[in-house]
Amino acid sequence: MTREQAFNLMTQMLQSKNLQKHGLAVEAIMGALCKYLKQRHTEQTDEEFNEEEWAIVGMLHDADYELVEKDPKRHTLVTAEKLKPLGVSERIIEGIKAHHDGIKSGRENLMESSVYAADELSGLITAAALVRPDKKLASLTEESVLKRFKEKSFAAGANREQILACEKELNIPLEEFVGIALKAMQGISEELGL
Ligand SMILES: [Fe+2]
Repeated sequence: MTREQAFNLMTQMLQSKNLQKHGLAVEAIMGALCKYLKQRHTEQTDEEFNEEEWAIVGMLHDADYELVEKDPKRHTLVTAEKLKPLGVSERIIEGIKAHHDGIKSGRENLMESSVYAADELSGLITAAALVRPDKKLASLTEESVLKRFKEKSFAAGANREQILACEKELNIPLEEFVGIALKAMQGISEELGL
């Protein structure tokens, strides 16, 4: 599956522009995490760090969000059903399922842990940008995101435990994880409208 095919599928399946942007944000973070982790895990095979795969998992992780609104237990399964006949790799399908606790309990590789943690962090970063006077990512700093992280009532839907999978499962300190994700999202600020 090419990036363009994934993008077309996401925009076909999701009407909400905000959800489309969320897909793009997680795509960008996943690409950055793949590069970062590849350098740190030279003992692992190249197969683990196929950047296109990581990016597609990020882009499509919530693709069926609107389609399963009435039955959230099926979240990610509808996307999986759409991807199977397209010959998409099992790693991508499992990665998408892995971001949703209700479907898969536990992550099996670095890509799965990455999408699990990046999903929630992207929401927190977006919320932190939106409360700034200019509503822009450009002026948002790692420190202010970390401050927001500690404010439990701020963007309470962004699950802090899930974000902390960066430390427990990826071995990336929270500060560094926020830095990687913020930079990745700043890199596509125009697409995100932030
Ligand atoms: Fe998500």
